[in-house]
Amino acid sequence: MAATPLPIVVLISGSGTNLQAIINAIQEKQINAEIKAVISNRPGVKGLQRAQAANIPAEVIDHKDYADRESFDQALQQRIDKYRPDLVVLAGFMRILTDDFVNHYSDRMLNIHPSLLPEFPGLNTHQRVLDAAHPQHGVTVHFVTNELDSGPSVIQAVIDINDNDTAEILAERIHTQEHIIYPMAIGWFAEGRLSCKNNHAYLDGQALNTPPRWIKNELVI
Ligand code: GRF
Repeated sequence: MAATPLPIVVLISGSGTNLQAIINAIQEKQINAEIKAVISNRPGVKGLQRAQAANIPAEVIDHKDYADRESFDQALQQRIDKYRPDLVVLAGFMRILTDDFVNHYSDRMLNIHPSLLPEFPGLNTHQRVLDAAHPQHGVTVHFVTNELDSGPSVIQAVIDINDNDTAEILAERIHTQEHIIYPMAIGWFAEGRLSCKNNHAYLDGQALNTPPRWIKNELVI
């Protein structure tokens, strides 16, 4: 008998192209998971429409309705937990999270960040990579810990920077990579191949001291 699909909740703040890639991968049976709900902290964003179009409950918890970070995170946590997810997926969720929230989902919350972490945490990564004249750029899927854009890396996609790249072009090129590696990482987690313990990520029982890299359409482990 097939294993029960992994229950997941996806948090978004915007367009939700990563959400779409995850929805597609589930529909195409590349991932044995079920998105129980999509929750956005911003009303009216495109990602909510994508969820509705896929018949997934789409909810808004507007951070502006809350006096402080703690009360927003508590409300969000309560809403997420109604769906009893085994994995929480941050897909363009533009909020800094409280320690209590992160601890509650420790070892079962993933994020995707558009840089080769630990390089370039924070915002505007594409422009910063260009300004630093780096030859390569990339994107990292990682477990979420209390340090912003940190936590054990799971997989990175790497691209070479071209002479004509701008921040906009890089954003697009990186998005294409995100849509490949995020479903891949979630699929590993759903199959029980990926886990996190004591601040280390494990794939097939091996500690990921350096994350597998997706380079030129090939996985290099
Ligand atoms: C992505 O670039 C991701 O790396 C970052 O937020 C963006 C989300 O894009 N964390 P989308 O909403 O999935 O299109």
